[in-house]
Amino acid sequence: MTLDIVILAAGQGTRMRSKKPKVLHELAGKPMVRHVIDTAADLGASRLHVVVGHGGDQVRESLAGYPVEFALQTEQKGTGHAVAQAMDKLADGKVLVLYGDVPLIRRETLAALLDEVNEQRMALLTVTLDDPAGYGRIKRDSEGRAVAIVEHKDASEAERAITECNTGIMAMTAEQLRRWLPQLSAENVQGEYYLTDVIAMAAAEGVTIASAQPATPVEVEGVNNRAQLAHLERAFQFEEAIRLMTDGVALADPARLDVRGSLRCGHDVEIDVGCVFEGEVELADGVRVGPYCVIRNSRIGTASVIEAHSVLDGAVIEGKSQIGPFARLRPGTRLAQGAKIGNFVETKNAILGEGAKINHLSYVGDARLGQEVNVGAGTITCNYDGANKHLTEIGSRAFIGSNTALVAPVKVGEGATIGAGSTISKDVEAGTLALTRGRQMSKQNWQRPQKNPKQ
Ligand code: UD1
Ligand code: MG
Repeated sequence: MTLDIVILAAGQGTRMRSKKPKVLHELAGKPMVRHVIDTAADLGASRLHVVVGHGGDQVRESLAGYPVEFALQTEQKGTGHAVAQAMDKLADGKVLVLYGDVPLIRRETLAALLDEVNEQRMALLTVTLDDPAGYGRIKRDSEGRAVAIVEHKDASEAERAITECNTGIMAMTAEQLRRWLPQLSAENVQGEYYLTDVIAMAAAEGVTIASAQPATPVEVEGVNNRAQLAHLERAFQFEEAIRLMTDGVALADPARLDVRGSLRCGHDVEIDVGCVFEGEVELADGVRVGPYCVIRNSRIGTASVIEAHSVLDGAVIEGKSQIGPFARLRPGTRLAQGAKIGNFVETKNAILGEGAKINHLSYVGDARLGQEVNVGAGTITCNYDGANKHLTEIGSRAFIGSNTALVAPVKVGEGATIGAGSTISKDVEAGTLALTRGRQMSKQNWQRPQKNPKQ
């Protein structure tokens, strides 16, 4: 049977107190609804439908390029009404209903639920909660068969005592939905078309309602406010930390790690507290990352050390490098084996040969440095003339004295030396000393000005 997945995302999310639609708020660096879409895509659905309403244009824009179809619910008249908006696009197979604000649902849980569905059966994901307030409650008959869901606001005292709750996630055939949705009524406390009312219809028809539970309740927790979002963020990150530690990564504190993308680690990797990894990051064997580093879309080679408070973005480091503390490596930075970037150094589109060093207080952008180049403190590549960027090339074993300005485009030959404090705007030949510096002079009989004595 084909599978259509309908993701409900039309709600306003008033309690987020934000101009951004709720489902676009990010968890682990990715909008909540994209977590749901990615999980849904893993189930091999024929089509994904996202029901949008509040902030619909923003949601569409954020999902541009994703293989989803949109259905517009102009007025939020309830979950049943929301599913109905996608009805005419559904094929005659299975239908799974998900919520865009329940981001941590797992593929395995959903696959098990879908296995239950056929013409005579539908499936409902339920969860038993210590505090079920607000949730729809699962009513069962004397034989334990689910027969109805009653919404909290419509429930009697006795019904409110039930702790088995509706997660909102359910699966059935499109044919069943086509029979049941038109029969929904809005005669309830909230005046809404409740999707949950299809349960009683199924039971009345003799369709079996199979139920399943998630592996952990966090899978089915929804986000209504920022505190709940933060709670799910920590749950997600803790799981990521456990996964890394299971694979052999030494985390100084699993509660102080944030992975917003994919982090792949070799063996004996050590990560200190407060680090953030974004996009695709690879740490090879024996890499050590000090506290409070931010590493985005970078590859760090074997036995490299990133010291505290360094920020790396789009960097490729071959191995045995030492970086930081307080270094900033911007996109296009590439370090060969053993190259070193020290404190308060910024690099951008800079390629360093083996063993090259920029140890302190420098900006090196649009530059190619050979092997064993030594760049002194305070060196700046003047790569931008206000209109275009230009390249600085420094040959192997060149020595750049402190406080040098290299006005690009410029080349410094192999083994050349630049005297400290120079402004280099012409190419320097290999093996020579270049310096541009006012000559030092001394005045023998000079006197410092004296302060006027106070009257
Ligand atoms: C719903 C269920 C309840 C369940 C709970 C789990 C119904 C009637 N109730 O209640 O049994 O325990 O979820 O969290 O289904 N939405 C739309 N359009 C609408 C209304 C809702 O797209 O017109 C979307 C919301 O954006 C949200 C989801 O559907 O993602 C659930 O809506 P919400 O209003 O939170 O339903 P609850 O009252 O919490
Ligand atoms: Mg809700």
